[in-house]
Amino acid sequence: CKGNASREQTHRQSLVQQLPRAIIIGVRKGGTRALLEMLNLHPAVVKASQEIHFFDDDENYARGIEWYRGEMPFSFPHQITIEKSPAYFITEEVPERIFKMNSSIKLLVTVREPTTRAVSDYTQVLEGKERKNKTYHKFEKLAINTNTCEVNTKYKAVQTSIYTKHLERWLKYFPVEQFHVVDGDRLITDPLPELQMVERFLNLPARIGQYNLYFNATRGFYCLRFNIVFNKCLAGSKGRIHPEVDPSVVTKLQRFFHPFNQKFYQITGRTFNWP
Ligand code: A3P
Repeated sequence: CKGNASREQTHRQSLVQQLPRAIIIGVRKGGTRALLEMLNLHPAVVKASQEIHFFDDDENYARGIEWYRGEMPFSFPHQITIEKSPAYFITEEVPERIFKMNSSIKLLVTVREPTTRAVSDYTQVLEGKERKNKTYHKFEKLAINTNTCEVNTKYKAVQTSIYTKHLERWLKYFPVEQFHVVDGDRLITDPLPELQMVERFLNLPARIGQYNLYFNATRGFYCLRFNIVFNKCLAGSKGRIHPEVDPSVVTKLQRFFHPFNQKFYQITGRTFNWP
């Protein structure tokens, strides 16, 4: 019994705070939280619970790498730490900063059909405004330039959905093999195959199974089963109801994104059935 206790103590003493070996860099509203939580079902994956915003926030970045390490959870040396901060994908300075920390880090990007993602992005901002009792424009007004009737490329939710533009900046630092693209739409409807692909990309033994994921009809999403006693669904803020968008605006956006999507497929080698 005593032997067990001291073994336990030695085991616990080997806990360390490790820098992430993989980062979910985006995309905002692409299912980044779901991806992180689902990967955490794997016994060798430890997650940073909060978004750290180390590489995109100048103040945080100035605190230095040991500050960043200190934000990481304790883990055993054989485990890998993963953090997610979706703003990394679109922030100019981030690729170089991550490269300086670890040029061989693995980068995960979960994407959704770009127009749906833009509406999801809008919905999150709208909810924030409503909470503060502020009025906000309709999506159509923000996404389309009323003078030209063309897509408003200055609107951030549109810009973020031009995935290839952001990825190309990252490719100045990292080879394409260091990225893995997750289908965020499939993560909603059938997450296991997506997670199995990530396990392979991270060189982890296959440990996440159908047992770990169950569809919760009330939530309308898959929830997570860690073991016989512990299961959880994502917070209610994940999976908002989107406002209805004028179909002609949807079509206009889809046409706008089309060439950028083609380029994204070509670069990443992953093709989606986006319109
Ligand atoms: P919606 O709110 O548009 O439905 P992020 O974590 O990057 O902000 O992404 C949020 C999106 O994750 C949600 O967008 C939701 O559709 C998606 N998602 C994927 N799997 C989910 C799950 N199991 N539970 C809740 N949301 C999930």
